[in-house]
Amino acid sequence: MGRIFLIASGKGGTGKSVFASNMGALLAARGSSVVLVDMDMGLRTLDIYMGLESKVVYNVYDVVSGLCRIKQALIKDKRFQSLYLMAAAPRRDDGRVTPLHMKVLFRRLAERFDYVIVDSPAGIDEGFLLSAVSAEKAVIVITPEYTAIRDAEIVDKVLSEIGIHNKCYVINKVKSELVASGTMPSIAEINGILRMPFAGIIQYDDNIHVAANNGLPIVFKKDTYIYRNMEKIVDRIIERR
Ligand SMILES: Nc1ncnc2c1ncn2[C@@H]1O[C@H](COP(=O)(O)OP(=O)(O)O)[C@@H](O)[C@H]1O
Ligand SMILES: [Mg+2]
Repeated sequence: MGRIFLIASGKGGTGKSVFASNMGALLAARGSSVVLVDMDMGLRTLDIYMGLESKVVYNVYDVVSGLCRIKQALIKDKRFQSLYLMAAAPRRDDGRVTPLHMKVLFRRLAERFDYVIVDSPAGIDEGFLLSAVSAEKAVIVITPEYTAIRDAEIVDKVLSEIGIHNKCYVINKVKSELVASGTMPSIAEINGILRMPFAGIIQYDDNIHVAANNGLPIVFKKDTYIYRNMEKIVDRIIERR
């Protein structure tokens, strides 16, 4: 069975979707089969970050409502071998999807793929809870801001309440000069607040932003500091020994 990871944050805009696309692409580049599941219904982004928006026909809702088979909703990435995307629905359609639906879908995907990476919506409501139903581990993506740290604490608590105890966090969009000048919370300060393992930091880098918005996970380019850093973070998350 494949492993299911949830990418969460509480706060919007911390970089969950960029992180999910790069974690998926990196694992695929290293030879694993990976499916990215976009659970941000109504606000889908992963198709754009993967450059696959013109390929989307069916989405997660179509699969769970029986409109299509799983295979029909799996969009193959153009550049990475065995990397697939299941897109989010264009609208936030309430009521039709239950946790049981998602459990069945995630199990089927885990039977086919080594890794199932679930990109969750911001917040802690229904959409988030549906994303989390089968996760083995949650990766909470924060930015060095007090609002993001507080939201991560809340997400941590909600995840514990639904039985997900294996968690870690990544600090994204770090601007070292702002941390050095004391205008952003330091890594040590964040580590003191969040009670879960720390998987690493990702610098704020325009290249990450530009690549994502051009439909390319930045780890496509190997031999960069970003790739090497992402490798270390992913290894800590998957606990590769
Ligand atoms: N490390 C980074 N450096 C620069 N820009 C980033 C970085 N991570 C994410 N971004 C940008 O931040 C914005 C929000 O990212 P996104 O992944 O869509 O957030 P979320 O899924 O948490 O709402 C996007 O414009 C993205 O390009
Ligand atoms: Mg997102």
